[in-house]
Amino acid sequence: MKINDKGHLEIGGCDTISLAQRFGTPLYVMDDTQIRDACRRYVSAIRQYGNGMVLYAGKAFTNIAMCKLIQQEGLGLDVVSGGELYTAMKAEFPPERIYMHGNNKSYEELRMAVEYGIERVVIDSFHEVELLEQLARNYDKNIGVSVRVKPGIDAHTHHYIKTGQQDSKFGFGIEDGQIYRIIEYILTQPHLELKGLHCHIGSQIFETDPYIETAQIMLELMWDINDTHGLNMDEIDFGGGFGIRYVEEDNPLAPEDYIDALTDGIKAYCDNNARQYPRILIEPGRSIAGPAGITLYMVGAIKHIPDVRTYVSVDGGMADNPRPALYQAKYSAMIANKADKPAECTVSIAGKCCESGDMLIWDIDLPKVEAGDILAVFDTGAYNYSMASNYNRLPIPAVVLVKDGRAELMVSRQSYDDLISHDCIPSWL
Ligand code: LLP
Repeated sequence: MKINDKGHLEIGGCDTISLAQRFGTPLYVMDDTQIRDACRRYVSAIRQYGNGMVLYAGKAFTNIAMCKLIQQEGLGLDVVSGGELYTAMKAEFPPERIYMHGNNKSYEELRMAVEYGIERVVIDSFHEVELLEQLARNYDKNIGVSVRVKPGIDAHTHHYIKTGQQDSKFGFGIEDGQIYRIIEYILTQPHLELKGLHCHIGSQIFETDPYIETAQIMLELMWDINDTHGLNMDEIDFGGGFGIRYVEEDNPLAPEDYIDALTDGIKAYCDNNARQYPRILIEPGRSIAGPAGITLYMVGAIKHIPDVRTYVSVDGGMADNPRPALYQAKYSAMIANKADKPAECTVSIAGKCCESGDMLIWDIDLPKVEAGDILAVFDTGAYNYSMASNYNRLPIPAVVLVKDGRAELMVSRQSYDDLISHDCIPSWL
């Protein structure tokens, strides 16, 4: 991102003010080059390790164009629902590079997975093993599965986005023996081929230690299961969770630093135990899509409460970015048409939903703000569009992809007609 000679913020060589005029606001803008750069850094770090694959976690931000871009960069895809899988299918994403997650996959979701012939279903319950075996038998196919493990690691992140601890709805515990039971059960199913283990310890993690500790636990577990059952599973999927910088106090590492620390830890542990290095998978989502995206809003009402604060309202809010309301997430922002002006006031950015909690940013220093200004909120590429809602019947904004001065839609803006297109009128009304 840079500032052009009009004093406007630019992204992907496009003037953000022209983007706001051309496509309207609120507007999600994704930078093609930044997405690809993050993909390439992960792919090259895994290539350096030698045996593995990068799966993009589609839950962070997905649509048909994004699937195509991810495919072009040679990544695989992690999907968590029939909807994400359907999107990938429509993008003709290669099924042999799709992994499916979810703690309660439905029969229909699993049926789609089997029919499309995806590479791996990551087992998260006994219930799903039954459904999958039945489907595989009906389709006369063998299905590659791995199993989600709770490694018992408590990553230091927001309570709602950490997942690896024992008290979690995801996966099977080691201490309570559940993991051994599910493995035994899978091994009795003729159409399921056990390929590996999976874990995901949480999201927006800044340290490498939790990954290294997790690696040791997962390796021990895999060796133990292999030795007990005479298997040769060799695949461990470490999930995602690599943090990004939303505000100055966040201190993430570069993609390759997370992966190098993890793979060095794996190699050292394998060497010490005279075991072979496993094939590893990682599933970054936020760190690929997040920093590549900004959201443009138009400033409307400004309310100055003397000696208290100034509320600057924008034309979006928790419907297009629920993260501040859900996780007290913090963001940084800039007045995109005054990108070269110094800060001169402290204001708070309010969304337009009918809730006091719909505040995008508390206390941010900005140049003088006026109605009609365009506010750019940074690092909104992940878990914004994908978590957007129609709360207050606000249409979901368009998503534009920018590259070398070109801007084209990835997703068009919802219209009011889209909003009512599923409304039905019961006959007695
Ligand atoms: N793999 C699995 C199995 C996951 O559950 C997740 C995220 C990822 C990979 C990708 O994690 P990432 O690299 O994006 O951190 N809505 C929350 C984040 C929820 C993450 C859920 N799982 C937020 O906005 O912070």
